[in-house]
Amino acid sequence: MNVAIVGCGAMGQLHAQMASNCGLRIAVCADAVKARASALAKIHGAVAVADIDAALARKDVDIVALTSPTPTHAKLIVAAAKAGKAIFCEKPITRTVAEGRTALTAVQKAGVPLFVGHVVRYFQEFEALRLQAQSGVIGHVGFIKTFRGGMCPVGSAGWFRDFAKSGGAVLDLLIHDFDWIRYAFGDIERVFCQNLMRERPTIMDYAMVTLTLKSGVIAQTIGSWAHPEGFRVKAELCGTDGMLTYDSAEAPIAVMPRQHGKKSPNTIVPSSPVDKSPYQLEWEDFIAHIGGHAPARVTPEDALAALHIAECALKSAKTGAPVTV
Ligand SMILES: NC(=O)c1ccc[n+]([C@@H]2O[C@H](COP(=O)([O-])OP(=O)(O)OC[C@H]3O[C@@H](n4cnc5c(N)ncnc54)[C@H](O)[C@@H]3O)[C@@H](O)[C@H]2O)c1
Repeated sequence: MNVAIVGCGAMGQLHAQMASNCGLRIAVCADAVKARASALAKIHGAVAVADIDAALARKDVDIVALTSPTPTHAKLIVAAAKAGKAIFCEKPITRTVAEGRTALTAVQKAGVPLFVGHVVRYFQEFEALRLQAQSGVIGHVGFIKTFRGGMCPVGSAGWFRDFAKSGGAVLDLLIHDFDWIRYAFGDIERVFCQNLMRERPTIMDYAMVTLTLKSGVIAQTIGSWAHPEGFRVKAELCGTDGMLTYDSAEAPIAVMPRQHGKKSPNTIVPSSPVDKSPYQLEWEDFIAHIGGHAPARVTPEDALAALHIAECALKSAKTGAPVTV
């Protein structure tokens, strides 16, 4: 199958490699900035274009990977659906829930597969936490604490630092934890949020969101774009019989994508803690879904639900009051 990468920045480059690792052919690289499309196209032997509509309309494209800034997702999902393409879209599905609903309607009408990259479900560490908790090893889980953060990214034309575009740490970063908590422990009933970035561009954001789940579990999620450097993820699950903890600083996640076709080395060195990047696992799941197998681990409705929680959190930050989801 042939893929068009739409948005050839940081995530476009990563997903082109992941799709290629899965045996897909990168046929087209499209970016509003032609030089970015050309640079990625050169690596994959693809065609570079700046005309996004033309890229979506190409007959030789089966899958469109939307890896452009969040505010562009809604329009691109609708256009790709109308063109009859299978769609891989980076999270968040769209900038607003209203846009997300419109996009989903277009996808359902066209009957095309849509996958949204809520990648934390594919991180082995988080999957291990979920499975361990479900096995009952720490008894009845009552409290969850997560941290995710690092330097505030810039992005092309500084879009990450513009709240109107990125939604700050809540909508861009903590949406990962909202999705994973909902996936692992069920629906969220109420949110309360305090954050720094409100409605003006800034170089940092810090957000705390308390979630009350329908099951009664309480979760505290903290997201930072205020760290001077690096990126760190932590999780702590407290249950009646013990705790599960994870800290990426103690056990860094080494992502070493396999380079297919490369000759095996003579010397065997200690292997990476993860055999496959979670970003590749997403692609494998999506490809199986396109092939008519079971629904992917993340459904479009899951992506919309995570965005809805993020939107409720932002409303809470604005009003200073808890919001019922
Ligand atoms: N899952 C994750 O771990 C993760 C991490 C970072 C970013 N993301 C998400 O991935 C998406 C892209 O983020 P990024 O870090 O790659 O951003 P980026 O700014 O590095 O790259 C975006 C690219 O899209 C291009 N672009 C802008 N408008 C376009 C349009 N209308 N059509 C086509 N191309 C356009 C830009 O020129 C740029 O090359 C965002 O939605 C972001 O939230 C996900």
